[in-house]
Parts: sequence; C-alpha cells; structure tokens
Amino acid sequence: MPFKSEPYRPLTSIVSYPERGSGGNNRYRGNCSPKLIEDLIAFFKPEEICDYMCGSGTTKAAAQKSGVRSHLYDLHSGFDIMNCDIPERPEFIFWHPPYWDIIKYSDVMYKASDVQQKYGYDPTKLDLSRIAEWDDFVKAMNYAMMKQFTALENGGRMAVLMGDIKKKGKLYSMISEIVKPGTLENIIIKAQHNCFSDNIEYTGKFIPILHEYVMIVRKDNPMLIPVIMAKKSEMDIRDMPGATWRDVVAAVLEKNPAPVSLTFIYEQIEPHKKAQSNQWWKEKVRQTLQCNPDHFDHVGRGLWCIRRTA
Ligand SMILES: C[S@@+](CC[C@H](N)C(=O)[O-])C[C@H]1O[C@@H](n2cnc3c(N)ncnc32)[C@H](O)[C@@H]1O
Repeated sequence: MPFKSEPYRPLTSIVSYPERGSGGNNRYRGNCSPKLIEDLIAFFKPEEICDYMCGSGTTKAAAQKSGVRSHLYDLHSGFDIMNCDIPERPEFIFWHPPYWDIIKYSDVMYKASDVQQKYGYDPTKLDLSRIAEWDDFVKAMNYAMMKQFTALENGGRMAVLMGDIKKKGKLYSMISEIVKPGTLENIIIKAQHNCFSDNIEYTGKFIPILHEYVMIVRKDNPMLIPVIMAKKSEMDIRDMPGATWRDVVAAVLEKNPAPVSLTFIYEQIEPHKKAQSNQWWKEKVRQTLQCNPDHFDHVGRGLWCIRRTA
C-alpha cells in the first residue's frame, strides 16, 4: 500500500478530486491533481513512471509520495517530444498533453527566451499548444502518442489525460481523434474542478464541459500493434446504406429551398446507389412524396418542397 497517511482510494471508471492535493504547481495552468497519478500508481503498481510533458512536475510529486521512481521531461527543460528520442523503455507513461491551444505554454507559463538561451531552441516553434489548426494538432498529438507507445516495454502501459474543446458550437474531441494503439484497457471519466473556466458565467446557450478523460492503453505485443484511428470522410446520403427513400427525397428538397420539379428530383438521385439499386426508383420517388404529407408539400404545377415544422 503506497499511501502512508491517506486511505486507499479504489480506482473506478469515474474519478473526482475536488481537493487537488499537494505536488506540482496549481498555478501552472492546466496542471492536474497528483491524486489521479497516485491512484494510477496504486492500481497498476509500476516501479517507475515516465512523463514527457511534465509541466509543473505533478507526476514527480505523486511518484515520490507513492515511493516509485520517476523520469520527467518537458519542452521547458530541453526535451521536445517531436524531435528527441525517448530515453527510457518505460513501464508506465503518464501523458498529459496540452488541451490544443486553450492554454498556451511556451512564453506564457515560462519564458521562451530562457529556453532559447539554455537549450538553443525556440520552444514556441515546437509547442503543441501553439499549433493553430486542429487537424495539425491531431497529427502532432498522434505522432507523439505513437512515439511514446512504441518506446514502452512489452506489457507496459500509457495513461493519457485529455479533454474536449468547444469552439463556436463545435466539439474538438481529443479522445475521439487520438490514435489508440495496443489494447484499450480503460477510459476513465475525470470530473474537473478548480479550473479557470469555473469563473465563467455560462449563458445557457451551450453545455459546459465539466469532465476530462483518462485513456489507458497496454502494449501486449512487442511487434504487431493493433491501432484504432479516427478517419474523417464525407458520405453522400444518396449512396448510404440505411438511408430510406424518405431521407433521400427530404435531403434533395432541403438542399434546394425553392420548390423543385419532379424531373429535378430524379436528376439529383439518378446517378446514385439509391436509384441504381431499384429499377422502380422513379415510382418510389413519387410514392414517397405522396405518402409523406407531413414532410413534403405539393405546391402546385408539379412542384415540391419540404414541409417546415417550425
Ligand atoms: C497540460 S501541460 C502538463 C501539466 C502537468 N501534468 C502538470 O500537472 O503540471 C502540457 C505540457 O506539455 C508541454 N509541451 C508542449 N509541447 C511539447 C513538446 N513538443 N515537447 C515536450 N513538451 C511539450 C508544455 O510545456 C506543458 O508543460
């Protein structure tokens, strides 16, 4: 039992640490509770823990408290995950990457000129939190993920703490887009407390994010690594299995707000799988329009439009 003075907290799929605990620096923005790392150590019992984006050193404090060795690195102290080799063959990695650009680190949490002077590089050029485009951030995050995972010894684990970002009505979800190598062992929901956004008064126009995720992956094969990757693509509803005639006809009418003729609807559907898979497709279009008066309006002279509900 690693904790001398605190009761053992069993790890569950939901964790919450309203009291941050001591270790690391709670003024280093985006820092995490050492209790999470202590609980991970208590559960998985590694002899060593590595953190290649250690920030204020929370992992070191948690490791010390739990009586395990730690190896810590960060861009602010001469280690760039994108270009430096991982020095260890870790048994356990705790990784807490930036929340995209929500909190900038280089030249905000530490002086870029100090790093330049000491280590000879400009950290603002290498900092993941300074990547402007989401897709570029995801590429960098996934490169860093695979680099760390490949360095693990066989049987080793990575615990990755990450959050979702909401911008202009769109969710940028790290957990959805992060590459998941090896055996996906757990996804833990971590309630968020004491964050900067706690002081924001929400207007009720969007759902505030009050949780983060800890993803745990395990390396079970030294050579062949199964990988789950998000792939972005677009599908045309007219080619999609599962789209009904009602869905397809509605999509054509929604795309064209002015009333359209039957000929136009045919032209929009003919080149697609929906039409190609049914020799009576024109009859199906007419039947669909006529049998769904709740959805389609016949506005005279062979013209059709979508029925608006609001
Ligand atoms: C979310 S913070 C980690 C906070 C830490 N867990 C704590 O409790 O203080 C992310 C860290 O990633 C570091 N970082 C960003 N880009 C990096 C890179 N290319 N190589 C290494 N570290 C990087 C930042 O300097 C920052 O300290």
